[in-house]
Amino acid sequence: MATTTITPTTLTERINRIEVSATMAVVAEAEKLRAGGADMADFGAGEPHFATPQHIKDAAIQAIQQNFTKYTAVGGIAPLKDAIRERHAKDFGSDYKREEVIASTGGKHALFNAIQVLVDHGDEVIVPVPYWVSFKDIIQYGGGVPVYVETDESRGFTLTAAMIEKAITSRTKAIILNTPNNPSGAVMDPRDVEAIVRLAHSRGIYVIADECYVYLDYTGNRFSAGSIKEAKEHLVIIGSLSKTYAMTGWRSGYALSPAPITSAMQKLQSQSTSNPTSIVQKAAIAALTSDQSCIETMKEDYVRLRDRIVTGLREIPGVQCQKPTGAFYAYPNVSAFFGKGGLKSASDVAGRLLREAHVVTVPGEAFGTQEHIRLSYATSMQEIDKGLERMKKWFGGL
Ligand SMILES: Cc1ncc(COP(=O)(O)O)c(C=O)c1O
Repeated sequence: MATTTITPTTLTERINRIEVSATMAVVAEAEKLRAGGADMADFGAGEPHFATPQHIKDAAIQAIQQNFTKYTAVGGIAPLKDAIRERHAKDFGSDYKREEVIASTGGKHALFNAIQVLVDHGDEVIVPVPYWVSFKDIIQYGGGVPVYVETDESRGFTLTAAMIEKAITSRTKAIILNTPNNPSGAVMDPRDVEAIVRLAHSRGIYVIADECYVYLDYTGNRFSAGSIKEAKEHLVIIGSLSKTYAMTGWRSGYALSPAPITSAMQKLQSQSTSNPTSIVQKAAIAALTSDQSCIETMKEDYVRLRDRIVTGLREIPGVQCQKPTGAFYAYPNVSAFFGKGGLKSASDVAGRLLREAHVVTVPGEAFGTQEHIRLSYATSMQEIDKGLERMKKWFGGL
């Protein structure tokens, strides 16, 4: 067998600073079991179970037929930038100009761009816990230092300006807010968002508001930090079409931010991916400018699925589950089982649920907490019932 001289030291120090996304690792392990014939109850992947709505698919097909298949402006074509800012203005009362909008290849790409242009070596970025896996790694890739702030689980993972203020130092460059939250499903009180945005603005700190789930808010109080116009100078809003319109594979996202930040992101994008796919841009325009009722239809389904999974999880003695008010994740605390049947951690729970009960979940360690597992309930009611049945049996047998 050929030997290789490629070792971790061959690779750059910056790539060795980051890890493969933990959620993707779970998907890979579940895939292996499935390939071996196992019937899995899958709560692992964080993506809608719906198909992309037909009118969005039609727009993409039409774009191909009309040969809209060439390079475009790096940050997206003007009609897409207008569709993004006008949709946002209509839904949230924001006021962004075309030069304050960049279209990227997914929300993650927009976030990556934003952090790479704002965060320098040694800069601190405040990250509330639990956090979406990629925040930590994208910050570290840029040379920044994540500074974690615990939220209050007993009050639905709340986060206040006072909690953030304690973590601010002279090196704080940015604060990440993610509401509705992945993995907890918690939605911040708009008053807390506003207090944090104003605090940051007064200290010259940037708020990077990851609002990829903003349309999946079940509180009836949908809110974007982008509506706080006075603080615009220190705000970067990250948006995505992935979850809103069931378009995860299309890769369509955006950022709204002051023009100099937007043009820096555009410069970075020009030296990496260039424009988001031309065809996807046309599909995104259709998604953003046509009738929005598909969002409500999907949302109603998510609420039914949430109610079923939360009720079922709470019926399992020992499992504690806060009621999520947004996104499509439940984040139960399973620490009551530590010490039973050899279980020591959330990773043990998720690993054995996967191998012994064929239920796919993601361990909380990936999101910075030690006592939880994440279940994505963007799936069918049958899948939820099947998974709950298996979990009841498995936890009950410990
Ligand atoms: C909190 C959060 N932000 C951003 C993203 C990225 O979404 P996308 O790159 O598909 O737009 C995700 C995807 O899971 C997410 O959970």
